Amino acid sequence: MRESLDIGITCNLKRDVRARDGDAPDALAEYDDESTRDAVRDALERAGHRGRFLGYGEAMLDAIRARRPDLVFNFAEGIGGRCRATHVPASLEMLGIPYTHADPLCLAVSQEKAIAKRLVQSNGVRTPRFAVVEDLAQLSELSLTFPVFAKPVGEGSSMGIQADSRVDSLDELRPLVTRLLTLYREPVLLEEFCPGAEFSVGILGTGRSARVLGASSITPVAVSSDRFVYSRALKETADWRAHLCIECPPRCAPSVRADVERVALEAYRALECRDVGRVDVRLDGEGRASFLELNPLPGISPGFSDLTLIAAGMGVTYPALIESIVNEARARYPGL
Ligand SMILES: Nc1ncnc2c1ncn2[C@@H]1O[C@H](COP(=O)(O)OP(=O)(O)O)[C@@H](O)[C@H]1O
Ligand SMILES: [Mg+2]
Repeated sequence: MRESLDIGITCNLKRDVRARDGDAPDALAEYDDESTRDAVRDALERAGHRGRFLGYGEAMLDAIRARRPDLVFNFAEGIGGRCRATHVPASLEMLGIPYTHADPLCLAVSQEKAIAKRLVQSNGVRTPRFAVVEDLAQLSELSLTFPVFAKPVGEGSSMGIQADSRVDSLDELRPLVTRLLTLYREPVLLEEFCPGAEFSVGILGTGRSARVLGASSITPVAVSSDRFVYSRALKETADWRAHLCIECPPRCAPSVRADVERVALEAYRALECRDVGRVDVRLDGEGRASFLELNPLPGISPGFSDLTLIAAGMGVTYPALIESIVNEARARYPGL
């Protein structure tokens, strides 16, 4: 194995993405700040590699043509459409360039939460009962038990998710679905609400060698768990620590932790995630761990993103986390 690699970095910076007319107010939530991109480069350099920013789109292709990197550290969410996260990895595959994180198949499937749920469910992993609606008329055929949770089917980073995303009746659900259909212009995923504790599980590796890095519990300070929604607004307030208690190792019985970690790892494997990922899990009304979603490009903002908080809780420094992701990718490419 070579000591030092020339590693290209791809991501989408908030400052480069222009919101379009009619976009939802949180349309840029998935994208990154320069500070995260710089932190990744610094971590790669501490690990003895050279890290350089490739930009995105045509700029990325030009940078690659000028000098072909040994590996790309890819956390670009992509722009436009439900397959947006596949654009960079598919281009890299076309060019024969190794890259970190999941492949296009996993990225597309995980983006579309209902498809991800069908897949994990068919692998025996518990996930809340659900329905997908494209118009209000479909609500009359709904056979879910309230409370119900509504979210855009193909977004992430808590986009469209607020304290009122949990509703107790059809009368409350109608205006919520109308709002989501209008703002996000895509179907709405309805799920039975899991009233129990919430967890996030960080995972490293690929296939059978995938393993849990650690899990965190996300506990509201002021509301009971059966009312709690981990919304973007909550996490983005400057004093989020006054509202949320994020603990790693998680605050729960060892048997619950084992159940949560098992569900997360099984879902990660079922969706064929690679190198790194984060799985959101919540306990249902009977206290059983249920899969909510897989994040194959988990946020990696130092000291803030759930994955970096989990790593810190497990005694893994930020540079060590980034180096592990690179090493997981290298293990998949013989000779790299
Ligand atoms: N079925 C559900 N039951 C209870 N809470 C849910 C459910 N679905 C989502 N949530 C809440 O909404 C948050 C965001 O939902 P999630 O599916 O993880 O989407 P995102 O991609 O936006 O993070 C979760 O962390 C959780 O607090
Ligand atoms: Mg989530």
